Amino acid sequence: MLEFPQLLTLDPLDPTVIDLAPSILAADFAHLADQVERAEAGGGTVIHVDVMDGHFVPNLTLGPPLVKSLRRATRLPLDCHLMIENADLFIAEFADAGADWISVHQEACPHLNRTLHLIKQHNCRAGVVINPATPVDTLSEVLDIVHHVLIMTVNPGFGGQKFLPETLHKMKKLAKIRAERGYQFRIEVDGGVGMDTVAEVVQAGAEILVAGSAVFGEGDAKVNAQALLEAARSASFERV
Ligand code: DX5
Ligand code: ZN
Repeated sequence: MLEFPQLLTLDPLDPTVIDLAPSILAADFAHLADQVERAEAGGGTVIHVDVMDGHFVPNLTLGPPLVKSLRRATRLPLDCHLMIENADLFIAEFADAGADWISVHQEACPHLNRTLHLIKQHNCRAGVVINPATPVDTLSEVLDIVHHVLIMTVNPGFGGQKFLPETLHKMKKLAKIRAERGYQFRIEVDGGVGMDTVAEVVQAGAEILVAGSAVFGEGDAKVNAQALLEAARSASFERV
């Protein structure tokens, strides 16, 4: 596993520490290394990798071979978001391919505690994800063992969807629970995060921002990432 870059070694709960996780789903796969490099040059600190199986979500994307290639293309942590059933069967392969963070869906893992421990046993940071219709309360028993909680702000399966504002209260709730119980997990958001929504997610408590279309869509990934981060950092001083 690679060392985390400098930003991530700061106090993870410092409200001004915002990580941008460009999602390669919206990138041009034929020029992936260049695109990732541009996003990193613009301040991206984590690379978000969306893995879909055509069962848990109605779309197919990529698997360990692409993670292995990406591993050679960047030193940034690879954040593998598994939107798959039977995640336990694939964790070792993703870890071997070079994943640094692996997150699994609460809705897809009947033995969530076992799955999260399996991720940790493979020396990866374990994350748990919830869909828009899944309450934060369903995570109560695993919040002490995860490195990050990923709040889906769209129904997973596709990039470029519209942000769902009804998910915002979950970030606030998680931040409150973390403070009350003294936990360490970080709060990540995914789906529809762009210039029009970034301030409200950061104000609600999001600390790791996944952005696909907003970084790799129109224009240059470096310029897009810089603009998003700048907006996110200003909003971090206005947390409610
Ligand atoms: C959706 C994926 C997202 C997706 C986000 O299921 O989990 O990571 O890439 O794309 P945007 O930022 O375009 O909504
Ligand atoms: Zn994702």
